[in-house]
Amino acid sequence: MKISASLLASELTNLANTLPNLSQDCIDYLHIDVMDGNFVPQISFGEAFTKEIAKYGKQKLDVHLMVRKPEDHAPKYYSLSPEYITFHIETTNFGVRLSEEIRGSGCKVGVTLNPSTPPESLRYLLPYVDLVLVMTVDPGFYGQSFVKSGLDKIRTIREMTRDYGIQMEVDGGVNSQNIRELAHLGVDIAVVGSALFKTTDPNSEAKKLKTLALS
Ligand code: DX5
Ligand code: ZN
Repeated sequence: MKISASLLASELTNLANTLPNLSQDCIDYLHIDVMDGNFVPQISFGEAFTKEIAKYGKQKLDVHLMVRKPEDHAPKYYSLSPEYITFHIETTNFGVRLSEEIRGSGCKVGVTLNPSTPPESLRYLLPYVDLVLVMTVDPGFYGQSFVKSGLDKIRTIREMTRDYGIQMEVDGGVNSQNIRELAHLGVDIAVVGSALFKTTDPNSEAKKLKTLALS
């Protein structure tokens, strides 16, 4: 199980100290929650702040666009060469064109869906994406509780994506109580916010989660 650390839950004004200390043995990606105050209630950060994160962090970026019209936003991140740029299926009518453009930039493309959005909405986009991110909270805030119906959805999506070699990521309420079950369902990457950053040692928490996932 790879761990993508959701920086939204960290002390944002202290990132220049936090980022260089995040070990690559424990944390695989830096998860960047971009919010527009429209698709989700809050505004978090955008490309300028993300550029700073890239400067201080050692891990590759995992950009999660929680914005309407993601086709206007995705290109701002191409020059940072993130591992993934992920957009919400609810936010665009042009998922195929956007996915092809993101792939053309050299990044891998992810698509995500809110807890109440049916998996079927992804079906015809699957040949164009590298990752499906299953949201297990309504997006917008860290520290929410894992939505249990997500487990059934993960099973359905794993089945749908089997023939495409697509990675599966889960975001929202992931912690030591549920990571083992997520691993058993075939989740490849867990986004973890508060369970890492609301503790004193994010590295050892991440290591513990990885060990639990293997158990
Ligand atoms: C929610 C964000 C998440 C969030 C995860 O809108 O997409 O990445 O920060 O935080 P936790 O792990 O606390 O749910
Ligand atoms: Zn996220």
